[in-house]
Amino acid sequence: MPTADQNDILFERARAVIPGGVNSPVRAFKAVGGTPRFIRRAEGAYFWDANDKRYIDYIGSWGPMILGHGHPAVVEAVQKAVLEGFSYGAPTEREIELAEAILALVPSMEMVRLVSSGTEAAMSALRLARGATGRKHIVKFEGCYHGHADALLVKAGSGLATFGHPTSAGVPPEVTQHTLVLEYNNIAQLEEAFALHGNDIACLMIEAIAGNMNFVRATPAFAARCRELCTQHGALLVFDEVMTGFRVGLHGAQGVLGITPDLTVLGKVIGGGMPLAAFGGPRAIMEQLAPLGPVYQAGTLSGNPVATACGLATLKEIARPGFYEALGKKTRSLVEGLKAAAAAVGLPFNADSEGGMFGFFLMNELPQNYATVMTTDNAKFNALFHGLLDRGVYIAPALYEAGFMSAAHGDEDIAATVDAARQIFKALQAR
Ligand SMILES: Cc1ncc(COP(=O)(O)O)c(C=O)c1O
Repeated sequence: MPTADQNDILFERARAVIPGGVNSPVRAFKAVGGTPRFIRRAEGAYFWDANDKRYIDYIGSWGPMILGHGHPAVVEAVQKAVLEGFSYGAPTEREIELAEAILALVPSMEMVRLVSSGTEAAMSALRLARGATGRKHIVKFEGCYHGHADALLVKAGSGLATFGHPTSAGVPPEVTQHTLVLEYNNIAQLEEAFALHGNDIACLMIEAIAGNMNFVRATPAFAARCRELCTQHGALLVFDEVMTGFRVGLHGAQGVLGITPDLTVLGKVIGGGMPLAAFGGPRAIMEQLAPLGPVYQAGTLSGNPVATACGLATLKEIARPGFYEALGKKTRSLVEGLKAAAAAVGLPFNADSEGGMFGFFLMNELPQNYATVMTTDNAKFNALFHGLLDRGVYIAPALYEAGFMSAAHGDEDIAATVDAARQIFKALQAR
């Protein structure tokens, strides 16, 4: 008799007490079907599910685990911090150290405020941008995700001059009526929006290398136009680097593109897997925040001593010379291996990467925007996902998510992944 699948058992138990059985929707495998794997433990480049099956982990907690799981220096820092207390609700020296470390690596930021999640950081940056400019409107792009604050859960309206509609129940249209949703990489539309509304725009928020519509880069011309138009119209340019910060390179997407935003939103890697995020920018803007200025923002667990210990230890490792060169090389070798395997069987396929972040597409051209990403053949992607999962390779369970490499992944992991993909590609092409 086959032994019972422990993931199935846990999923059933979870669904009885947690909506959908998960605490964040994408974990539910709704897009790809099947039972989510319940993770018991992780080490290096791997995690193990409830059946004790091992997977090569390419989600890395959706970005934070850039060193792999259980890096000894990080574990030591966290263990030490835990013994000194979990949370005080009063300032600590470690918060200053982490702030100093972040500012040293992100030159566009002169001051930073620590918070607990990317959602909180993006939401607070938005309030700050509105407070600092005294304006209401915000610009975002279809396919970019900035957390689940009400004003950011918006899809494009029917025409450019119209503002967005909520993408979630529970968000009143009044809350999104100031959010303009534009097409990513569409310069003409961007120019038109600023021509129509420029003087009322508080900020333009963008993932300059987008990781929430798989992996799509802003073209250099588009990113430069965002900067120019914001400057010209007195709007703030906000780079949401929750995913790209310390992930695509030591200086984030702003370093890769050579563009200086006004505000930067960070998360994921800066917490090393603990709940920690941040937003920051020039002193004059950041001093608009409470307790100095009129823009209110606060948090019971902000700058938590255990999370800051984890983040600091992580930043120390990634700032070592050569870290991103090695990581980028690994990621490129995966991407090139997959491309070659697909080409060998004539499967339409393309892929891209920067630092420790990558994306691949079941199409010949790299997409430039969300609408193109969403033309991916769903059934083929799902077959690829499940084929890899069966073979012990865990990629994001949705075609609109990016992939993440860690420093702990070895050549043998990459070879095993390409090998698994090769077997599936053959079957996909024959479909
Ligand atoms: C670019 C970006 N911004 C904001 C967020 C929200 O962060 P969190 O999930 O920590 O609230 C995410 C989460 O994936 C993200 O990718």
